[in-house]
Amino acid sequence: MYDPKLLAARFPGDFTFGVATAAFQIEGASRADGRKPSIWDAFCNMPGRVYNRQNGDVACDHYNRLDEDLDLIKSMGVKAYRFSIAWPRIIPDGTGPVNEAGLDFYDRLVDGCKARGIKTFATLYHWDLPLTLMGDGGWTARSTAYAYQRYAQTVMRRLGDRLDSVATFNEPWCIVWLSHLYGIHAPGERNMQAALYAMHTMNLAHGLAVEAVRSEAPNVPVGLVLNAMSVIPGSQSEADLAAGERAHQFHNGAFFDPVFKGEYPPEFVAALGDRMPMVEDGDLKIISQKLDWWGLNYYTPLRVGDDPARSGDFPWTLEAPRVSDVKTDIGWEVYAPGLKNVVEDLYRRYELPECYITENGACYNMGIVNAEVDDQPRLDYYSDHLAVVADLIKDGYPMRGYFAWSLMDNFEWAEGYKMRFGLVHVDYETQVRTVKKSGKWYRELASQFPKGNHKTT
Ligand code: FCB
Repeated sequence: MYDPKLLAARFPGDFTFGVATAAFQIEGASRADGRKPSIWDAFCNMPGRVYNRQNGDVACDHYNRLDEDLDLIKSMGVKAYRFSIAWPRIIPDGTGPVNEAGLDFYDRLVDGCKARGIKTFATLYHWDLPLTLMGDGGWTARSTAYAYQRYAQTVMRRLGDRLDSVATFNEPWCIVWLSHLYGIHAPGERNMQAALYAMHTMNLAHGLAVEAVRSEAPNVPVGLVLNAMSVIPGSQSEADLAAGERAHQFHNGAFFDPVFKGEYPPEFVAALGDRMPMVEDGDLKIISQKLDWWGLNYYTPLRVGDDPARSGDFPWTLEAPRVSDVKTDIGWEVYAPGLKNVVEDLYRRYELPECYITENGACYNMGIVNAEVDDQPRLDYYSDHLAVVADLIKDGYPMRGYFAWSLMDNFEWAEGYKMRFGLVHVDYETQVRTVKKSGKWYRELASQFPKGNHKTT
């Protein structure tokens, strides 16, 4: 574990330290003030989808505890807050009437941050698609991209004068593959063709939203948050290296190539193109508009080997053995060099703008003992990964900020409330928040910023 002051000295003085959350995971108040259900509300009610059939009806009750939680963020010493805006609060049916009461909530949130000197990094979509849009096919339907553009425009018209930054989407990989191919996240589809349709709609929606942001709020830097896979081949054999390249195209290239190169990856298209939807003239131009920044969410590497049997679909890979036997309580391998690997690899492949680590953190489920949460392994995780970010800065990569996932324990999607990622512990019975040992350490680090010295050592 690193001394927070010594670690702080390895970052430029204007580096942004923040904490992150997402609407569905913390807000609760699922029926308040005109909100209607999202695909996640429906998914939670389906048997066998979410641990113990838990749901987001109450979550951390953040909707009703906004001021208290903003005070908590302030007390964490951070200068920025990454949160998401719930489409079902703003345009509850996806299309149709705008719900002013929903916009009012985010108005209060943004103003509350401003009043406390906290920068606002909004994400327009963190997975809560209005349920009504499923009737038209959800993300598999091109019309959803245009509905999303109107939603983006509506939000930016109202908040654009006060946001410090905006992201169109959180984690395209999860929206597309995890939700439409692997069936783990809402809407729980397991179909390659549906997934490929969702991929193109979502990429198009990203581009359309960039246009909307630029027309409504040209001064707000706009970006995209990707959980790029840190693909690590299981061996240096030719077959495994080729498998690694295919895995890159499938897991990363399906999103990075259209956005940063204006095309879909060649081998990917050769293998799956016949099941892709029609890419209309002009789509790729809309998708590949230059971004002001991009966000990387990193937790664990993806180790792959070749699948000689070529079973199933592209990318024909198998899981390769782990290198580190340290894993978090959710089972994810802890491997900080994976963060360095993925940043280096992506800057080699693409012309990328400035980067924020928009999520990084660890799941450990220890509870309160004598009024304290001793989560040393989480603290070590943060410490090791932040040291890698400092190394990347030293090597000249444009890393501008870091957001811990997460401010507090919350609804961890298919895992329900069982898996805890917070710097702050939440007792879901009483809604009492308790800052963990890792949270105190992070506070010591973050409160060193901003500082005069803008140089790295
Ligand atoms: C990411 C999600 C975030 C949270 C973390 C643990 O994939 O963006 O909402 O669930 O994982």
